[in-house]
Amino acid sequence: MPQRIVAGNWKMNGSRAQLAAFLAALRQGWAEPRRCDVLLFPPALLVPEAIEPASALGIGVGMQTVHPEASGAFTGELAAEMAVDVGASWTLVGHSERRELCGESDEDVAARTVAALRAGLRPMLCVGETLEQRRAGNAETVVREQLEAVLAVVGDELAAGAVAYEPVWAIGTGETASPETAEAMHVAIRDILKARGPRLGMVPILYGGSVKPENAAALFAKEDIDGALVGGASLDAAAFLAIIAAMETHGNP
Ligand code: PGA
Repeated sequence: MPQRIVAGNWKMNGSRAQLAAFLAALRQGWAEPRRCDVLLFPPALLVPEAIEPASALGIGVGMQTVHPEASGAFTGELAAEMAVDVGASWTLVGHSERRELCGESDEDVAARTVAALRAGLRPMLCVGETLEQRRAGNAETVVREQLEAVLAVVGDELAAGAVAYEPVWAIGTGETASPETAEAMHVAIRDILKARGPRLGMVPILYGGSVKPENAAALFAKEDIDGALVGGASLDAAAFLAIIAAMETHGNP
């Protein structure tokens, strides 16, 4: 079975105080042994100080993005190597907000995935269609193209990472894909990966888009939903803990 993962993406939210309070609340509600992996993607400035308290709970810490180059004249950017240097273990690549707001193309996403792997960061590749693309009947084609653009460059090295299916229309909107809609896309993604060999067939496929404690169990009960990439609800420790518990109770063993 693929690894089970619940990941929190804080986006551009949070402060040092909020991070400390959040991790303290997680510690209080923590149940051992955990039967799924937990990851946190705070804003880059909070990554270094998240490492120690998060590792104490076995939580991995990741970047929300990294630059393709290892160093150089790229004012304001952060390299995957720098993230590894401070203790990060994962990075998101291709989040729809970066594709949309920062103009990241499939080629950029592939280059950032290469950079992550080069540095030893595990990439979580985000893919997903917009509402217009879904209405036009192109959801699967769009996701296939996003996935294949990266697979064409990194091949089965993506087995070190994960894929997050995040339909753009469900992100931050309160509108979740139904478990059936999400599962259908997860199956399609699994088939694309499996066709490239058994290692890729085992890549965890997470769902993202308005995941909350109320809808997590029904999503996790689906066979090909191996976890969740949680935005808004991951800012609330109680909600995040409830989503982790839902994975442990309802996810595949
Ligand atoms: P959301 O965000 O849970 O707030 O919809 C998910 C994401 O963008 O990763």
